[in-house]
Amino acid sequence: MGTTLLTQVIVVKAIAIDGPAASGKSTVGFKVGRSLDYVFFDTGVMYRAVAWAILERGISSADSEAVGRVAGELPISVSAPSREESDGRQATIQVGEKDVTWSIRSPQVDSIVSVVAANRQVRRELSRKQRLIGLKHGSGAGGKAGVVMAGRDIGTVVLPEAPLKIYLEAPLGERSRRRYREITERGKEADLATILDDMRLRDQIDSERAVAPLRSAPDAHQIQTQDKTVQEVVGLILALAAEVLGAGAVSTGDIDIPHEGSQGIQ
Ligand code: DC
Repeated sequence: MGTTLLTQVIVVKAIAIDGPAASGKSTVGFKVGRSLDYVFFDTGVMYRAVAWAILERGISSADSEAVGRVAGELPISVSAPSREESDGRQATIQVGEKDVTWSIRSPQVDSIVSVVAANRQVRRELSRKQRLIGLKHGSGAGGKAGVVMAGRDIGTVVLPEAPLKIYLEAPLGERSRRRYREITERGKEADLATILDDMRLRDQIDSERAVAPLRSAPDAHQIQTQDKTVQEVVGLILALAAEVLGAGAVSTGDIDIPHEGSQGIQ
């Protein structure tokens, strides 16, 4: 009924991938994007950039008004890494001219980002920008055939018209081990028990917040990633994408994140 009609009328080539921390969204989403030659956009980097900026400016995450203001004015940009930036990054994240790709992954950012992401004003600012990005790239206006967006509320709030919605799941223990491996593989020290405790807390804040909590959209395909390889999960999503969206392939490009005073999509 209505859903079929809607996807025919609103031609947005978008795949929404939601799920808790370390459920595989960015690993899988990046590969799906590459296979289809769709833009991949991990929306969590924007919440992380705001968290990083308030730490830099000495603003408390509890000062909701000040944090909301930062979200409104921060010039965040996401671009495909250049050849010189081949250090394992999926994208280069900048705040103004500053490359914050790795600093937004620090334990300090980790410890406040869920609180920042629960801020009403921050969500209003960032999800509006994310929606514009999704619509732009989903309509092909960004030079690619479509967009894969990963986050917590893409299928429910940011781009509910995405014809294909995926919700990735994995048990907390498994997700903590993945995060531990990611950190140690980058040559950093990590403690598994601390990661597990922090992740449990962040899951709780992300799922219990009043605005846009972590939820599977009712029409999302739920995929349990624990007993599957990355390639198996990618294969499942590609099969669904072929069925729902058809395949697509165009060029490469950067993501413009609109901010006040920018030339972005308003
Ligand atoms: O996926 P991640 O760990 O990089 O996300 C960082 C934080 O941002 C996490 O607390 C969840 C939040 N987030 C969100 O609330 N909505 C999104 N669309 C993406 C991330």
